[in-house]
Amino acid sequence: MSAEKSYDLQDSGVLRFPEGFVWGAATAAYQIEGAARDDGRGPSIWDTFSRTPGKVHAGHTGDVACDHYHRYPEDVAVMRDLGLRSYRFSVSWPRVRPDGSGPVNPRGLDFYDRLVDELLGNGITPIVTLYHWDLPQTLEDQGGWTNRETAAHFADYAAVAHGRLGDRVETWTTLNEPWCSAFLGYASGIHAPGLAEPALGFTAAHHLLLGHGLAVQALRASGAATVGITLNLSPVIGDDTPAAELVDGLQNRIFLDPVLRGEYPADVVERARRFTDWSFVHDGDLEIISQPIDLLGVNYYHPQTVTARAGEPANPVYPGSEGIAFGGADAPQTAMGWPVQPFGLTDLLLRLSRDYPGTPLIITENGAAFDDVVEDGEVHDVGRLSYLDGHLRAAHAAIEGGADLRGYLVWSLLDNFEWAEGYRKRFGVVHVDYATQRRIPKDSALWYSEVVRRNGL
Ligand code: FCB
Repeated sequence: MSAEKSYDLQDSGVLRFPEGFVWGAATAAYQIEGAARDDGRGPSIWDTFSRTPGKVHAGHTGDVACDHYHRYPEDVAVMRDLGLRSYRFSVSWPRVRPDGSGPVNPRGLDFYDRLVDELLGNGITPIVTLYHWDLPQTLEDQGGWTNRETAAHFADYAAVAHGRLGDRVETWTTLNEPWCSAFLGYASGIHAPGLAEPALGFTAAHHLLLGHGLAVQALRASGAATVGITLNLSPVIGDDTPAAELVDGLQNRIFLDPVLRGEYPADVVERARRFTDWSFVHDGDLEIISQPIDLLGVNYYHPQTVTARAGEPANPVYPGSEGIAFGGADAPQTAMGWPVQPFGLTDLLLRLSRDYPGTPLIITENGAAFDDVVEDGEVHDVGRLSYLDGHLRAAHAAIEGGADLRGYLVWSLLDNFEWAEGYRKRFGVVHVDYATQRRIPKDSALWYSEVVRRNGL
């Protein structure tokens, strides 16, 4: 639980990060690749969802996106010019196995093969995420993540991807933000596949975790060096301890505890009994889920502020959260309406080190959307720059406090398809003109490039 603390983030002196600190940027397949029907790619739940009226802003889809599938050499050159050392991207399951579990599509794998070679040729280390939300539609038709079989199919696909790229890619993360897949996708209908049943959210969460565990086994069996998972974690702030604990359980501990302690948190299990009897948890599952990982990926954007308020309906993304009001932080906001509260990152990293010691951490996403303006071919995104500056200072404070933080990957390299928000929210440090596909490094990118060069602020 996080109380508001004050760290000395104002220090104007130089802050240095540890030697070997990993610096880079992150993206995800469906958000940037486009080429939705090229070279045998099958449909994913996001192709279906984005075509469902009313689900995505202005009916935007990932059909073209940043056309990265065709322009990856240019994008890698942008990273090289910025001096980035690492690049986190996701492999699209429906490119590699168009129907999820059937024949492998070699042309899909060829793309990642070319991308990895291009990165290595430019001195950039690839970091692969195996699942960033683009489930093959065929598997969704069989129940998606509410079907236990999907976990096994995921592990098979992980082995296929590693079989092709594992000779050059060292660092693998299984899932990106299973909380979003489960609770935005199956409990609240905000993301694909758009189902809205609390029980389905818990079922999907468990099968995602099982898929993670089985994929870790598969990756280890094929010799992967460094294996982890990325979670979206938010410190929960609020005077009402039971409310804050409930939300912390549903957001953070429901994933952290199974992966890092081999058990579901008892309070979450109890609270969710009105929705599910948890019979989807079979003997042995938690052993599979909790085998050791080498790295925990942390995606941090903002803390969650909660207040007890009688009569408040449940927030559907947190089943059972009746009587809790969300939001109201006294802080500036990004274009997403998210509060800018860097201290939350310090708190989070220190809490992870304290409550789940022994697992090295890497920030796999952190960044902000702002309404950027292009002026004479430049983008003076001071809001984003100061967001990143504040959060790097906060990360540094956590390292000084003892957190074993190994790296930082900004979200995102490029403006891209921001899920239900379509293209209207821009998170890139590089601007994308969707009409011409021209890339312009924003001021934040030029600034970040200096940070990387100096290994500090
Ligand atoms: C995270 C997602 C990422 C992006 C950022 C803004 O939840 O992992 O794809 O949408 O939020």
